[in-house]
Amino acid sequence: MGSVSLKIGDGTARFKRASFCSSAANLLMLFSVITTNLFALYAFNHHPTSPHPPHHHPTNISLISEKVALILREIGSSQKKLAQMEKQILGYESIDLSRPNIANELKMFLDHHKLPLGKDSRTGITEMVASIGHSCEKSMDLLSQFMSYKVNGLCPDDWSLGQKLILQGCEPLPRRRCFGKVVPKLGLNPFPNSLWSNVSEKSYSWSGLGCKSVACLNSKKLNRDCGGCFDIVKGYERLRYVKARSKNDFLIDDVLGMGSGGMRVGFDIGGGSGTFAARMAERNVTVVTASLNVDAPFNEFIAARGLFPLYLSLDHRFPFYDNVFDLVHAANGLDVGGRPEKLEFLMFDIDRVLRAGGLFWLDNFYCSTDDKRRALTHLIERFGYKKLKWVVGERINGSGKSESYLSAVLQKPVRV
Ligand SMILES: *[C@@H]1O[C@H](CO)[C@@H](O)[C@H](O)[C@H]1NC(C)=O
Ligand SMILES: *[C@@H]1O[C@H](CO)[C@@H](O)[C@H](O)[C@H]1NC(C)=O
Ligand SMILES: *[C@@H]1O[C@H](CO)[C@@H](O)[C@H](O)[C@H]1NC(C)=O
Ligand SMILES: *[C@@H]1O[C@H](CO)[C@@H](O)[C@H](O)[C@H]1NC(C)=O
Repeated sequence: MGSVSLKIGDGTARFKRASFCSSAANLLMLFSVITTNLFALYAFNHHPTSPHPPHHHPTNISLISEKVALILREIGSSQKKLAQMEKQILGYESIDLSRPNIANELKMFLDHHKLPLGKDSRTGITEMVASIGHSCEKSMDLLSQFMSYKVNGLCPDDWSLGQKLILQGCEPLPRRRCFGKVVPKLGLNPFPNSLWSNVSEKSYSWSGLGCKSVACLNSKKLNRDCGGCFDIVKGYERLRYVKARSKNDFLIDDVLGMGSGGMRVGFDIGGGSGTFAARMAERNVTVVTASLNVDAPFNEFIAARGLFPLYLSLDHRFPFYDNVFDLVHAANGLDVGGRPEKLEFLMFDIDRVLRAGGLFWLDNFYCSTDDKRRALTHLIERFGYKKLKWVVGERINGSGKSESYLSAVLQKPVRV
């Protein structure tokens, strides 16, 4: 055990040096962990019958255990300091339920609820913990407003308040014990006629929206992927994915032809009024369309077409298991704004849910600057996808300025 005693000397020296610069908490912690491990190793390995005589060891056991106790205390306090720093950086402390103006329903929801029959033998869980986004802490007033309602009564007509919270990162929202407003769905059409026919405007909830009619929605460019996208009877929406306007528009049958091993389930990110899913449904491919209701009743409209709307912000991890989709389609919904690492997190999540050999279709993604396009290209290339199609095109916008768009079909490789 000669080498062990050598290491002890080294460890002691490290510990002393570290204690001089206590402000460098991380350094201290690293050193402390190394030292503790070495001491522990010594304590386990050292026994009196060792072939080496005790006088070869410069330190005695009670001295060591004193030091170990000291180190453990240091580690404990460093960890507390780090946790505190982390909370400050995130702006997040666990929600303080004792502060004034917190709705009782919120307190009730967040309280831990013991399982009625005690510990669940399969999972080992003893209580139910309510989930609520940690960013909700930043919007406590709005959240309390959201949780103020009559229990067992009708919920206030406040879906837009909930969406406001979601857009501020407060997701998941707490559950409520009230009945949501019922909007009668009149004249729903049977599938597949539902894909391309109007339903009564009364079937949508217009509260909290600027527009109060479909005609109003169609007169506006709601976002880069939706100008007139609610006109599914006569508008351009009917030609989308089946007739190209530019070389950046790929046709759905061409892309499906590039896939291998069966194209059956897909995910459309920020899918507007659901036209991508509609065209896919006609080809017997089931597509889930993720959308919020920003400025328009997207989710209700998609559902009225007989398609699957997923009400989800892109700050949220996709609620799908790994490697399940044959296809992921995204357009400018992917433009999450802000910092580049946000897009990176999103790309990794897309990669996660896409199966090997599956296709990622980036559709007319607007690149405001060359730098942005280069950064995106660099990011995509790091995933090692096979570029089945890659088109950078220019379009003249409403003000006569040239804008650059990227369209691509990429195939996820098998990684081992
Ligand atoms: C071991 O160290 C302790 C604490 O420094 C001291 O009181 C004790 O006399 C030492 N024992 C031997 C055997 O050196
Ligand atoms: C469907 O809605 C659009 C937009 O409001 C409208 O222009 C069109 O006339 C409607 N078509 C039918 C068949 O109701
Ligand atoms: C979709 O499935 C139906 C029923 O199985 C079948 O009749 C139809 O030909 C399929 N359509 C396509 C485009 O594969
Ligand atoms: C056209 O592009 C320019 C420059 O990017 C921008 O300032 C302007 O708002 C755009 N116009 C429209 C109608 O989108």
